[in-house]
Amino acid sequence: MKETLLKVENAHVHYGGVNALEGASVSLDEGEIVALMGPNGAGKSTILKTIFGLAEVSRGRVLWHERAITSWRIWR
Ligand SMILES: Nc1ncnc2c1ncn2[C@@H]1O[C@H](COP(=O)(O)OP(=O)(O)O)[C@@H](O)[C@H]1O
Ligand SMILES: [Mg+2]
Repeated sequence: MKETLLKVENAHVHYGGVNALEGASVSLDEGEIVALMGPNGAGKSTILKTIFGLAEVSRGRVLWHERAITSWRIWR
């Protein structure tokens, strides 16, 4: 069975009064390629920023190999 490498669970991110993510989830398995698709403003960049720890997550979490890394900085 393939192991899940990276998971974003129910992420909520807002920029001031703008809700950019309202419960976004994505999961990436070992050897898998995942594409984020959506129109301009859908939240693609914000999901990546959430993974990188560049966006402030008000709800939800990011897991790396089941370990919570929510809001960890990319250089940590
Ligand atoms: N720095 C920011 N300040 C305020 N609103 C932002 C900022 N960055 C993105 N947004 C808003 O958050 C939403 C998601 O944007 P974004 O993640 O950039 O989408 P995408 O990458 O899919 O085009 C949009 O409504 C956008 O206008
Ligand atoms: Mg973008």
